Amino acid sequence: MIGFAMCGSYCTHAAALTELKGLVADGYDILPIVSENVATTDTRFGRASELLQSLSQICGREAIRDIVSAEPLGPKIELDSLLICPCTGNTLAKMASGITDTAVTMAAKAHLRSDRPLVIALASNDAMSANLGNIGKLLNRKCVYFVPMVQDDPKKKPHSLVADFSLLRPTIDGAMQGKQYRKIFT
Ligand SMILES: Cc1cc2nc3c(=O)[nH]c(=O)nc-3n(C[C@H](O)[C@H](O)[C@H](O)COP(=O)(O)O)c2cc1C
Repeated sequence: MIGFAMCGSYCTHAAALTELKGLVADGYDILPIVSENVATTDTRFGRASELLQSLSQICGREAIRDIVSAEPLGPKIELDSLLICPCTGNTLAKMASGITDTAVTMAAKAHLRSDRPLVIALASNDAMSANLGNIGKLLNRKCVYFVPMVQDDPKKKPHSLVADFSLLRPTIDGAMQGKQYRKIFT
């Protein structure tokens, strides 16, 4: 089973769901996880309740959405890999600093405790400013892999990086073999 954790990069949820549907169509058994913000925040990109409904329909099970439910992922429920797709700058910074105060950061901490692969699909406007050091920190962490990232709008958002979601699958395959797929900046 693979964990598919979603954070509050609401503008990339549609692209993430497309990849999730592809994984399910190819026979992967997926456990959905959402951050508390994702579980409760309505934005111009969609309603929280609709996203939760889509996740349970696509995956055939309810999304984990709190720290208590995420804690067994590692010691009790062994995931083959955990994807954070999308991962916000907020969650990235917390993981880099060892902060565990959401369902997603709890899932990541519990999962990494057993040295299992964690795949991060980052989408953040401050990836090349406030969060650049955190990318570096996590690159050096055992069992952590990044979906290759692109500058989505170098003129208007010069510090922004977004994962190329179409490369999620080869990144997972590489991570399962202990390898980072390609260079992380494309
Ligand atoms: C409409 C909207 C879009 C957002 N898009 C992003 C984004 O693409 N990347 C990001 O890092 N944060 C984004 N944020 C900010 C995060 O949602 C915010 O940092 C939140 O605390 C993240 O919580 P989480 O990481 O626990 O999901 C957005 C917020 C809103 C309201």
